[in-house]
This record gives sequence, C-alpha cells and structure tokens, in this order.
Amino acid sequence: MKTPVIIDTDPGIDDAVALITSFFAPTIDIKLLCSTAGNLGIDVTTQNVLHLCELYEKNIPVAKGLPHPLRRELITTNRHGKNGLGTYEYDGVNTTPIELPAFEAMHYALQLYPGTTILVMGPLTNVAKLLEVYPDDINKIKEIVFMGGTKDNVLQQDKPYPEFNISRDPEACELVLNSGANITIIPMDFGHYAYIDEEEIKRLRSINETGKLFSIMYEEYKDGHVTDENAATHDSCATAYLIEPTLFKFEYVKASVQFFEGKGILVSEVMPCTTNFKLAIDMDYDGFKNLYYGLLGIAKTPDE
Ligand code: BDR
Ligand code: CA
Repeated sequence: MKTPVIIDTDPGIDDAVALITSFFAPTIDIKLLCSTAGNLGIDVTTQNVLHLCELYEKNIPVAKGLPHPLRRELITTNRHGKNGLGTYEYDGVNTTPIELPAFEAMHYALQLYPGTTILVMGPLTNVAKLLEVYPDDINKIKEIVFMGGTKDNVLQQDKPYPEFNISRDPEACELVLNSGANITIIPMDFGHYAYIDEEEIKRLRSINETGKLFSIMYEEYKDGHVTDENAATHDSCATAYLIEPTLFKFEYVKASVQFFEGKGILVSEVMPCTTNFKLAIDMDYDGFKNLYYGLLGIAKTPDE
C-alpha cells in the first residue's frame, strides 16, 4: 500500500526538484500539497506549487499557507532567484488554491486519511498552527518528517549554526517538538554532501524535459553550502526518506530549540532508549543518487 502524505513546501529550487520527483515515486500517495512562506513570500511559493502541478498534470489539492511565521516577521532569501525557480519562468497559473488555509486543509485531510505522514520542506509554520489549534490531531499523524537543522549542530558537535527552515520560524519548530507527535528529522547536511555537480547539471539537459528544467533551475541556485557551480539537494533528501527510508541510519534523540543571537538552532541529545524523535545520522549517497536519477528518468512532462 502507498504511504498517504501531505507535503508542505516553499519552492524554492530544491523544493521544486523534490516535489517533481516525488510526483513519480511509486511508494507514496500525495493527498494534499501546502505552500509555506519561507524561501519566498506565500503568494510566490503558492503560485510555484500550483504551476508544478499544472506542468505535470497532477490533480492534487493545493492549500495556501500562513503569510508569515507564527510569532515573527518573515525573512526570505535570495538564493533561489526572484521567483523561486532560478531563471526558469512561466506565464502565470490557471488553477487556484482550495478555499481552506493550509492548517485547516491538513486537519480535514487527516480526518479523511488517518495515518498520514506530513513532510515539511520549509519552516514549520503551518504544521505548528495545525497542532496549536487541533492538538489531538497527533493521533491521526503517522509521523512528521522535516528537513531542518544540521547534523553536526543537532548532535552538538559544531558551533551553533542557524539552518534556514528552523531559524525562520523557531517558535513553530518548538511547538511541533513539544506536541508529542512522532518526528523524523532529516538534517540539511546530507543535501550539501549529496550535491549535483557541474558535469551532472550539464548532463541533466539531455535526459528529458524534466532534466532540462532541473538544469535551468540549478544554474541559478546560489545555495551557499556548496560552490556556485554545484547544486545542493536538501529537500530531495527529505523526500528520499519518504520514498526509500532504508537509505538512512537513525539515532533516537531528545530534541529542542535553543536561541543563539535571537536565532533558533535545533539541538539534540542521543538517547539510549526509544523516543518520539528520530534523527538521521547517515545516508547511503549512492543509493540516493540512484533513486534521484531513477525518478528523474520517469518524470516526463505530459508533452514529451
Ligand atoms: C533549506 O532552506 C531552503 O533554502 C531550502 O529550500 C531548504 O529547505 C535548507 O537549509
Ligand atoms: Ca525548502
């Protein structure tokens, strides 16, 4: 049986790549897509989610997220280009988000599909709001998976590093960590070790239209963790966990948010017993690339 999932995302180049490949993953069933304010403002990220669904003819409901973090102002980034997809451009969208805001749509979807996994690839604002308003929904969620923090930091082996998704809405992260839900943390580090290099970016163009799209987006991806010529795969590591969890090794941890110069940092302590927090500590990089290229190979746009 396919795993029912809700994906919450702020495209964002690595979000767009992760989303497109997950459209073609045989083991997951995307019930709902939610937009988050993060890499860019909520109007742009929502348009990008709608556009990607249109481009791949995916009839999945899209719900618009909250316009800013729970208790702070939104600070976006310029890493993903003006419209979030590098130099890739499109002429508007023909579809609209559903009437319900993302957190209400999540609540509704969980009533319809109890046992759903929620994957968050941006700040945790929407899912925090869901759990603030409907705390009992943790009983309907199989697990909350999020891409956030850095492994060395989470294991307290490095100086405090404010990873984007956590530092943009640390109060939301705190609320989610304290909710009692089962949580799986995929730290950001994997995405900058499993990067797509310059040669791969060139080769992508000849695979199919999707490969061409990825290479156009990657050309303008100024991620900051790898050089300007290479592209990090952060959010694709999180979807890889959903699609093929055996690619990762985990430790059970006790996780919390600490504040450093006003910015939220995710830290944790490895526990000798089972907890409701699983932290990915290792990834099979070759297996990840096989999965990435395998999904890309079948991710053809309808006009190919
Ligand atoms: C995270 O920040 C964003 O820029 C990416 O989309 C990813 O979700 C990496 O720190
Ligand atoms: Ca993201």
